[in-house]
Amino acid sequence: MSKQMSHLDNIPSTPGKFKMDKSPYIHNRLRWHSSLAKLTFWSFMFLGLVLIFFFRSPSSNPLPQDPSRRSLRTYNWGGPAWEKRVRSSARIRSRNGISVLVTGAAGFVGTHVSAALKRRGDGVLGLDNFNDYYDPSLKRARQALLERSGVFIVEGDINDSALLRKLFEVVAFTHVMHLAAQAGVRYAMENPGSYVHSNIAGFVNLLEVCKSANPQPAIVWASSSSVYGLNTKVPFSERDRTDQPASLYAATKKAGEEIAHTYNHIYGLSLTGLRFFTVYGPWGRPDMAYFFFTRDILKGKSISIFEAANHGTVARDFTYIDDIVKGCLAALDTAEKSTGSGGKKKGPAQLRVFNLGNTSPVPVSDLVSILERLLKVNAKRNIMKLPRNGDVQFTHANISLAQRELGYKPSTDLQTGLKKFVRWYLSYYSGGKKAAG
Ligand SMILES: NC(=O)c1ccc[n+]([C@@H]2O[C@H](COP(=O)([O-])OP(=O)(O)OC[C@H]3O[C@@H](n4cnc5c(N)ncnc54)[C@H](O)[C@@H]3O)[C@@H](O)[C@H]2O)c1
Repeated sequence: MSKQMSHLDNIPSTPGKFKMDKSPYIHNRLRWHSSLAKLTFWSFMFLGLVLIFFFRSPSSNPLPQDPSRRSLRTYNWGGPAWEKRVRSSARIRSRNGISVLVTGAAGFVGTHVSAALKRRGDGVLGLDNFNDYYDPSLKRARQALLERSGVFIVEGDINDSALLRKLFEVVAFTHVMHLAAQAGVRYAMENPGSYVHSNIAGFVNLLEVCKSANPQPAIVWASSSSVYGLNTKVPFSERDRTDQPASLYAATKKAGEEIAHTYNHIYGLSLTGLRFFTVYGPWGRPDMAYFFFTRDILKGKSISIFEAANHGTVARDFTYIDDIVKGCLAALDTAEKSTGSGGKKKGPAQLRVFNLGNTSPVPVSDLVSILERLLKVNAKRNIMKLPRNGDVQFTHANISLAQRELGYKPSTDLQTGLKKFVRWYLSYYSGGKKAAG
């Protein structure tokens, strides 16, 4: 018991403070001083070695082994030439134009939205970490495309607060179009950390910087139809329940909607969430079924088509990229200003959520039939039971709210949209481009 007491006595009363030993043995002091000098010497040596090792490492580190941490590599940014490019890309070139920071600009939707904004004279600056969730050369090709139209994509992570703060220091963005995310439903079982990193931590970091920016930008961001999860009431309306996510991806998007509510409530940030429904089109994502079905049909490989219990049809509300872009631009144009300043809310701010779908779900087997006709190749179909790894049986958007508030009116049917996709696919992957995947 007494031993315990003396042990407790040695614990500093305040964290970080150390109680002086009131030992009466003065002659021990000299010895103590010389040990302290030795300790200090070796500490400095150790610190020196650490610093040498740190500064000798290349500035762009190779990707770390753990895939959830791969986007934590360091990037080169800053300097007068870099700032000049940032400013020039974000410069508004039309009357009543806006200046938009587009995160995930090298992604599928980000590329199309950035190009459309630039075309109408808005200032656009991209941000992307070019991670290798899917073939990064496709992201580089999209980057080259945007570069030709005058959009600069800064290479960096949305978790990098210093970079984000710098961007807001250089440009007073009026809007942020936040599309950077870890997408994909099935990959969440393989690499859950990447969803938390980009969709939760990254989103919070971005909102933290936006809330402190002066003026605060209005933010439009990509949620997902996946938030409807196991909801069976169709078509899905924004008022339906979203508390039964079927995948971690869906859960992180749902978390994003709640986080958006908080930042709107506390800091007066204007926030609009867009629930996209299975977006497809040219420059699309290789991890999506329409894309890899095309690749595999052309290669003569069999494709897996899922069916639900009792031969139930699996269907998706496929939405063409141009319709999604119109919805994104309309959301930016109708977004009201944020009301806060200096990190403080000054009044209530706008908070919205919209479905952006096509309102006509198509069975996945019909998608395959359209691809067969367009590619003039018969698919080797392998019908399989829908695995329980995050996919839901069907999605179907009710878009009346977006119609009313954004004037959103999708106009491309699956047949027409896939025709454009196949034309792009064939030209992109022939003519010297490597085969997809
Ligand atoms: N395409 C769809 O069908 C669909 C459906 C619903 C929702 N969404 C959402 O729309 C948005 C855009 O999707 P997409 O299809 O263009 O996906 P995408 O993967 O092609 O684009 C996302 C981009 O974000 C980048 N990125 C990821 N994490 C980042 C980070 N931490 N920092 C910086 N950049 C990062 C990636 O490199 C990628 O280029 C995403 O938020 C996605 O979740 C897409």
